[in-house]
Amino acid sequence: MDKKKIKEIIDQTENFVKETLSKDSTGHDWWHVHRVINLAKRIAKEESADIFIVEMSALLHDIGDYKFFNGDEKAGSVLVRNWLSSLDIPASIVDKIAEISSQISFLYTLPDEKVVAKKNSSITPCKELMIVTDADRLDAMGAIGIARAFTYGGNFKRSIYDPAIKTIKFVSKEEYKTTTAPSINHFYEKLLKLKNMMYTKLGRKIAKRRHRFLKLYLKEFFKEWKGKL
Ligand code: ADP
Ligand code: NI
Repeated sequence: MDKKKIKEIIDQTENFVKETLSKDSTGHDWWHVHRVINLAKRIAKEESADIFIVEMSALLHDIGDYKFFNGDEKAGSVLVRNWLSSLDIPASIVDKIAEISSQISFLYTLPDEKVVAKKNSSITPCKELMIVTDADRLDAMGAIGIARAFTYGGNFKRSIYDPAIKTIKFVSKEEYKTTTAPSINHFYEKLLKLKNMMYTKLGRKIAKRRHRFLKLYLKEFFKEWKGKL
């Protein structure tokens, strides 16, 4: 595909994504997608990956989110596939983008049942999937990750913190979807785990800094909670 055509497809997809996400208020806004694209493209350059596949998958990664379909993990991929088939892209590339964009969620790393935490998938993800996954996870860390966690929590009527509600160590898919725990618990159930889940070299480097900031934030939070600061 030539440069002009690639730009056209990306612009059209960008408009489609903006339009679809404008109906959401769970923190899956356009600016999250925008940040994920920028980070993913930066990592893609380092990894010599296919930038078109990375950008398209990043653009579409939250469109099919189960949260928009009452928890249904499959419904979203139909929407993504329909969009891709309306574009002039070779079928093999459509397949790849559809597959990648449907596999990015943190949810897919969680076990279906409450068993000891293990990775669900035993297959090695392709380079482009690793890159977009790292970029998506990085946006849940650091200063922006903190803002997103409390926005998400507030949206679902979660409190900031409650010492009586303990964090769960091994979260299953069902628990992740239905938890009503305070937002601070989410740091222990997900955010602090992300650093060790990075696939790429640059991802690991950026995650290290964002992880440090998460820990510093929690340290200050608990000191303030006890009235020590
Ligand atoms: P993913 O894109 O990996 O599926 P989610 O859609 O679950 O991630 O989360 C979107 C954003 O909301 C992330 O920043 C995430 O950390 C945050 N979030 C998800 N679940 C909770 C929760 N129970 N409490 C607070 N924040 C949450
Ligand atoms: Ni996302």
